[in-house]
Amino acid sequence: MLNKRKILLGVTGGIAAYKTPELVRLLRKAGAEVQVICTPSALQFVTLHTLTVVSERPALVDFFDEESGNWNHHVEMGLWADAMVIAPCGSNTLGKMAQGLCDNLLLTTFLSARCPVWVAPAMDLDMYKQSAVRENLTLLESRDVRVIDAEEGPLASGLEGKGRMAEPENIVTVLSEFFNPPYSQWNNKKVLVTAGPTYEHIDPVRFIGNHSTGAMGIEIAERLEELGASVHLVLGPTHLSPNERIEVSKVTTAEEMFEVCKRHFPNYDGGIFSAAVADYKPKNASNQKIKKTESDLNIDLVPNKDILRELSLSKRDNQFTVGFALETEDAEGNALKKLKNKNLDAIVLNTVGETTGFKSATNKVKIFDKKGRRFDSELKSKTEIAFDIIQTLDEWGIPK
Ligand code: CTP
Repeated sequence: MLNKRKILLGVTGGIAAYKTPELVRLLRKAGAEVQVICTPSALQFVTLHTLTVVSERPALVDFFDEESGNWNHHVEMGLWADAMVIAPCGSNTLGKMAQGLCDNLLLTTFLSARCPVWVAPAMDLDMYKQSAVRENLTLLESRDVRVIDAEEGPLASGLEGKGRMAEPENIVTVLSEFFNPPYSQWNNKKVLVTAGPTYEHIDPVRFIGNHSTGAMGIEIAERLEELGASVHLVLGPTHLSPNERIEVSKVTTAEEMFEVCKRHFPNYDGGIFSAAVADYKPKNASNQKIKKTESDLNIDLVPNKDILRELSLSKRDNQFTVGFALETEDAEGNALKKLKNKNLDAIVLNTVGETTGFKSATNKVKIFDKKGRRFDSELKSKTEIAFDIIQTLDEWGIPK
């Protein structure tokens, strides 16, 4: 559910802090890595020791660790996290967050965080109703801080009402649903993705390759995973790599890519094949480095297996395949031919141009499906294009 997500848990002073070791335990159980940061007053309600043991990471309160000499760097932690949750969040911290004050490690980390932030307020019912508190919450919400509303029930004061910190299980559910939206058809689907170039050996030091970096396929893999899919990326030689939540098989040649895909595809709901696979390989790769001579050099090439076509022709009814095309002439006509010849559910046509393609950070695509539907994207970042692709497929009933 929270497979390897990096969560910063901020704990402020309040009786509900006694529930935070349980919250950490549930987050860990869901697969998250948890870094706890306490405000000094939180330590009147819970110990650093307990939080360190349950999170399996030193829980922090100070900027500087006198014993180890370590500087607990708020900027690094802010960049590290996939999500930050402040629970319980008392009215003092809430007010400081709203004002941008930062007189402790938790607040400075909050200001440095680039990830989504949640607060789970906890205070007495009359405090929670106070207009200052309400206004601070509204202000923070207008700045994209998400509020996990306090729950009703008996309070530490002996009064009864709204002000209890949301139960740890409910906080974990909020985070899990954020990372695995239950409404996406990709949720819980198993998807094979190919990306990157392939290198076909000529001799031990030379190869036939292409300029693909695998960036588009990596973006697709990461966005699918964010929607709850479990993704296996078969990645050709590239300096890029996806986040650690994606299972990766690294390959070099088209033949290796084919073998890995053939082995895994039957266990998947389908595949998105974005790799720029070499169509040909040298007939006889030399074991020794080919020496220069005065005469011409001819290298015989033989075709590689078409991975996408082979798998698509033998796919089950409940499996899908999506291919990519890059064309320099009659682009749409050729893409539609590939859609049919390779028995695809849909094909993504890349645009050839200065702001698109292999080395560019942006891309522009057209998507066609076998029922005759089409989608034309704008020029966007590859991250946004990846979203467009998987959202369009989702709308068209792919995956099945
Ligand atoms: N593909 C593949 N295995 C190959 C060649 C291509 O899986 N040996 C896949 C690519 O990942 C892509 C699609 O097929 O999804 C289209 O590849 P492309 O090279 O554009 O088409 P080809 O069928 O190879 O035709 P051509 O090179 O003549 O355009």
